[in-house]
Amino acid sequence: MPKPAKHVFVCNQSRPANHPRSSCQAKGGNEVVQAFWQQAQTRNLFDKFSATYSGCLGPCDNGPNVLVYPEGVLYSGVTKEDVVAIIDEHLLGGTVVERLKAPAGIW
Ligand code: FES
Repeated sequence: MPKPAKHVFVCNQSRPANHPRSSCQAKGGNEVVQAFWQQAQTRNLFDKFSATYSGCLGPCDNGPNVLVYPEGVLYSGVTKEDVVAIIDEHLLGGTVVERLKAPAGIW
């Protein structure tokens, strides 16, 4: 397995139904990580990034949250439809996707 240049942590924390903080899993976190995996597989991007589940990253109200290292960029409210933009613009292109970046004060 090649050493990936970047790591993508996708919150997939679950909580009981009606929990006041909800959870990224309830908002589609699983679909988001699956979309990263599908893109990595289809486009053979395993040396560019590795995507994995994470537990709660903190700002649950804004989820699903996606954290990219080594830059430490947090994306919030990410949907599976946003994944290609994060890959193409940030992970491959080196430019943060400003429209998805967590607001200052959250991260
Ligand atoms: S549940 Fe995802 S950030 Fe808390």
